[in-house]
Amino acid sequence: MITRGRASFDRARCSSCHGVSGRPGLLPDMLLMSPETHEIFKEIVIEGLYRAKGMDSFADVLSTDDVQDIQAFIVSEATRLRHQLDQ
Ligand code: HEC
Repeated sequence: MITRGRASFDRARCSSCHGVSGRPGLLPDMLLMSPETHEIFKEIVIEGLYRAKGMDSFADVLSTDDVQDIQAFIVSEATRLRHQLDQ
């Protein structure tokens, strides 16, 4: 799930706009998403909830499963970095 999520994340080029894993990006770092944003992740990525803000729908390139995998990948990256910072 996490490996697939990373592949989909790369394929859809999310990181061309967003920062992740400490790599800087122009837009919200997805590792810092609020719990509320995690709740509506699928609506944002598939349904284009934030289209007006410039975040278009990825329904043409990603399935619902792909989006779940991407979210799992992001959570795993966030957890991994948090552990690194704790050391
Ligand atoms: C063309 C640039 C672009 C790409 C590529 C892109 N996004 Fe976004 N994304 C945006 C913009 C713009 C916003 C809105 C930023 C704001 O809130 O002002 C956004 C917001 C988001 C948010 C809400 C973040 C928050 O903390 O509020 C999520 C989640 C998100 N994008 C996921 C993704 C995923 C997953 C991908 C890859 C499938 C992706 N984005 C690819 C431009 C992009």
